[in-house]
Amino acid sequence: MVEESRQAEIVVIGAGPGGYAAAFRAADLGKEVLLIDRDSELGGVCLNRGCIPSKALLHISKAMDEAERLSKMGVTYGKPEIDIDQVRDHKNKIVSQLNSGIAQMANARKVEIIKGLASFVSNTELKVQTDMGNVSVTFGQCIIAGGSTSVALPGVPMDHPSVLTSRTALELKDIPEKLLVIGGGVIGLELGQVYAALGSKVSVVEFLPTLIPGADQDLVKPLQRKLNKQFESILLSSKVTAVEPNNDDTLNVIIENNKGEFREVYSKVLVAIGRRPNTNLIDIKNTDVRIDDKGYIKVDVYQRTSVKNIFAIGDIIGDPMLAHKATYEGKVAADVASGLPAAFDARAIPSVVYTNPEIAWAGLTEKEAKNDEIPYKKGEFPWSASGKAMILDASQGKTKIIFDPETKQVLGVGIVGPSAGDLISEGMLAIEMGADAEDIGLTIHPHPTLGESFAGAAEVFEGTATDLYVPK
Ligand code: NAI
Repeated sequence: MVEESRQAEIVVIGAGPGGYAAAFRAADLGKEVLLIDRDSELGGVCLNRGCIPSKALLHISKAMDEAERLSKMGVTYGKPEIDIDQVRDHKNKIVSQLNSGIAQMANARKVEIIKGLASFVSNTELKVQTDMGNVSVTFGQCIIAGGSTSVALPGVPMDHPSVLTSRTALELKDIPEKLLVIGGGVIGLELGQVYAALGSKVSVVEFLPTLIPGADQDLVKPLQRKLNKQFESILLSSKVTAVEPNNDDTLNVIIENNKGEFREVYSKVLVAIGRRPNTNLIDIKNTDVRIDDKGYIKVDVYQRTSVKNIFAIGDIIGDPMLAHKATYEGKVAADVASGLPAAFDARAIPSVVYTNPEIAWAGLTEKEAKNDEIPYKKGEFPWSASGKAMILDASQGKTKIIFDPETKQVLGVGIVGPSAGDLISEGMLAIEMGADAEDIGLTIHPHPTLGESFAGAAEVFEGTATDLYVPK
């Protein structure tokens, strides 16, 4: 095997949204940067087999649902015809356009790319296994952005072709007749809705008594009502105890809950029970970087690990495993590594579930406030009072703002309804800027829009709402 030696001021492991942001920021600050990724394309899980392909498919499923609901408004389309090859090509085209965009940006910044698997040799040296042989890289500073992988479920033959993870589910090889989703979290419900729209009979098994357990359940309720119609069944407080392949590649699944044990045959099973950090891939034991008992790398507010010249960002340092959190952290790490004063000091990180309807929240949830006994008051604006929501057939939606009862500043925001993921940005700005209820209520919002519901929620809290009658 060819042995090559390289040196870099800053080396970044992983070219996902955190890693490439870190590499590009460091290059923009004048550093000589080497970016390493084992994938053939840049962009990481988010671009290649996560956020972007899933949202491309969710857009199609939402448009199909909207077209169907138009029949209530007097316009009826025929049954949709699905060309799965074209759907797949469409999704792949978006991914490859973005892949080349990142490659061009790396090129313009003179960020050098090595395609291969990086592992540590010491606190200042990496070994990269590439198709052309091993490359030894010595570095001044390193930013680890190695990401995460789907968790496997014990008792499930994860390498069986009918057992899917988010990665293989997004390859969209075919449309299974009966799909069982294990895990009623973000991935399970987003991909469950995609497959239901494409024609699969989808069932969900969730271990806990609620879907999307991290979210406030009043926000989950409108989604659950919709899923009750779209899915064959939603089994809560249930677990899969065994998955056994049949000769025809279908799967025999045993599900257990307080009603007993059931056996059911599914064409495919999607395992979406969480993700784990990729720390095992990079030989971290050859460094003095400290990890916790789950394998997450420990960092301080400067994204610095226990080794001064090694930083870590994104999924590999822990929850929430979100692209926008990784990007923010990547820029902090690049700034600090380049000698600028920076730290992770964001007040909140928004979460979005891109289902239909979407659910989004930021900052304090009511669930957290109750659990941690944090005093709060809330203002809620039901979308049944919004003209725009009625126009969109979205009156099930809701916007709520959680306030500090003393200062009336925004502590948290929760939204359910179409475009909740876009609308939450206004809540984020309010949290970051320390806005209070009056600031929001007195900000003129355009009419008719869904964004008005944000000012509406503040007005409900203030007692100044005129679009609703709130008894005193
Ligand atoms: P998740 O943590 O959102 O949901 C996993 C669900 O599986 C939980 O509700 C959990 O109670 C359940 N579960 C665990 N073990 C189980 C078992 N044995 N049987 C049945 N249910 C079980 O994890 P998910 O959906 O795999 O996503 C992983 C991470 O990826 C998310 O936490 C999120 O950070 C990220 N992600 C974010 C997206 C977004 O922002 N829209 C989209 C997709 C993923």
